[in-house]
Amino acid sequence: MVSKPEIEGQKILKSLLSQNVDYGGNFVYITGGMGGGKTSAMFSLLEYTQKFYPNQKIFLSETYDAPLQCFKMGFDRCRFLVKENSGVVFRDRNKKLSKVEFLPVTYFKSNPVTKTVTVNKKQKTTTTYISDYDDLWEKAQYGKLNVVLFGNRIEWAKFIEYLRHVGEWCHIFIDEIGEILPAGTRTEDWKVIGNFANLAKDFRKCMLKVIANTQSVRDLDYRVIDKFMYRIFLPGAMQDKKHSRIVQKAIDNLDGDEKRGNMAYIDRMGRFGLIRFTNIYKPDPRYSIEAHVVI
Ligand SMILES: Nc1ncnc2c1ncn2[C@@H]1O[C@H](COP(=O)(O)OP(=O)(O)O)[C@@H](O)[C@H]1O
Ligand SMILES: [Mg+2]
Repeated sequence: MVSKPEIEGQKILKSLLSQNVDYGGNFVYITGGMGGGKTSAMFSLLEYTQKFYPNQKIFLSETYDAPLQCFKMGFDRCRFLVKENSGVVFRDRNKKLSKVEFLPVTYFKSNPVTKTVTVNKKQKTTTTYISDYDDLWEKAQYGKLNVVLFGNRIEWAKFIEYLRHVGEWCHIFIDEIGEILPAGTRTEDWKVIGNFANLAKDFRKCMLKVIANTQSVRDLDYRVIDKFMYRIFLPGAMQDKKHSRIVQKAIDNLDGDEKRGNMAYIDRMGRFGLIRFTNIYKPDPRYSIEAHVVI
């Protein structure tokens, strides 16, 4: 028999995945303990998206200096879009971190901006490279998993702002979002995150679906935490007292095993229910590849 919380969970999940204009876009976090199945849960939603919306673009934001997770979805699905002059290289863990050349990599344009500053009466020139998002958008393919690498993670906040204006539905999946919108930043990044928080308030009105995961919501900038519309709690998660009525005790009772997958609570602005992620995405031992930034 299906329980009441499961029926409610299904309804909420349906609204998350639908593209009803009334619901609009959304902003979702998935949280859980280390190895608690966060990336697997995110990939389940990605899999659904790719299957039911093959004519929409899907982007994935990955962590640096750790094995790339995208290969869990199958090598042939992945393609890499790397910013020119970003210093991003791929290295193989199975081969003592030697450089990998066989990945399907496409470079998108970046334009140099030089600045001259005077330090201790000496002139110093620095060059930074600004991404050409139009070129990136053109080079991203429908029906593929577009893994984008800028050489730093904070730039995702700006790219998502760009995607808001492309005029079609698109999907952004973010692994470990705490690295993009960390709590307690200063200077320029503080402003970028503030802009992003303002923008996130309006995802509902845009054709943007942003689905992210994080080990702990407390690692995120407080201005952003308020803006999520859906919250998914996997086993090992910490409760989010301020935004959800799901209590710690309930989360601690969630089960997860290999056969039946991981149970989770899903919360949509006060309403909540239970869902199950049956697909577990295991690493492919042949592709233990990391992205590094060489400066
Ligand atoms: N219910 C489960 N039963 C068995 N293995 C699981 C289960 N959930 C996740 N795993 C395994 O644990 C590892 C970590 O899962 P992942 O989704 O990457 O977790 P996280 O992103 O939370 O660290 C993966 O290799 C996955 O296959
Ligand atoms: Mg993970």
